[in-house]
Amino acid sequence: MSGAASAAALTPLAIYRRDVAASLTRIWENVLDWEHLPWLHRGAFLGVRLLEAERDGWRAEVRLPPESAARTAEIAVRLDRPALRYHTTTLSGFGAGTDIVTELAPVDAATTTITVTFYVPGVDPTQRDAMASRYTRLYRRLWDEDEAMMVRRQTLLDAVGRHHGTVAVPRALPLGSEEDVRARLPFVVAYGDREVRLVELAGEIVAHTTVCPHRGGPLAATAVEAGRVTCPWHGYRFDIVTGTNADGRACRLDPAPKVAIDPNTREVILLAG
Ligand code: FES
Ligand SMILES: [Fe+2]
Repeated sequence: MSGAASAAALTPLAIYRRDVAASLTRIWENVLDWEHLPWLHRGAFLGVRLLEAERDGWRAEVRLPPESAARTAEIAVRLDRPALRYHTTTLSGFGAGTDIVTELAPVDAATTTITVTFYVPGVDPTQRDAMASRYTRLYRRLWDEDEAMMVRRQTLLDAVGRHHGTVAVPRALPLGSEEDVRARLPFVVAYGDREVRLVELAGEIVAHTTVCPHRGGPLAATAVEAGRVTCPWHGYRFDIVTGTNADGRACRLDPAPKVAIDPNTREVILLAG
């Protein structure tokens, strides 16, 4: 490598810095979570195929948009935990040679400052500014999406600790007349310390829990297709009647209360299962 070329390779294309409302624990968990790329970040990744995973990193082939002319790249993520830093390196394919270094600086128990430095080889000098803003815009969006996921997950984990066994689950929760309930479907109701969604499935009113058993993804607004919901965080699919995972994974929806209709009053009632 010539002196000029090596200087260019060592000059960051851009630096992106922000505070993220997440602890180091949540961030490391997120960095190791390769599976969420084409789901949570569906605008930036079309697919991911894991090649290798270990305690402090992973390597995968990713498919990048646009769908009509998808490109692939092999990327590796390597954690340096003692240095509070990780590298995302493109080993081959689109963007080969790019190294993105993310440094983590805890602010408090629930906030971390991240500094992302982009090293991108071979950028035409006339394109550097445009490319720099593309990378920064992309990372702002990725971190917005990651932050929302981490905040929800932390809130759920904290609530488990706080409420465990302290919120009474009603034996019977009346929801109103069948006619009114059907007119409102689908909708979400609080049931003890959890939330359930009521939907219509083959003419029946069915209730399912709205927290994904994998890592707590939101199931309250997902479409029901062939009796299944698909979690927007990692794409796990669950049968809303049986709770089982449609792809044979060892996790299932928490049991939901039963939906009963009083034969005399036609009132819809949620009954403890
Ligand atoms: S949280 Fe991972 S699939 Fe739902
Ligand atoms: Fe992410």
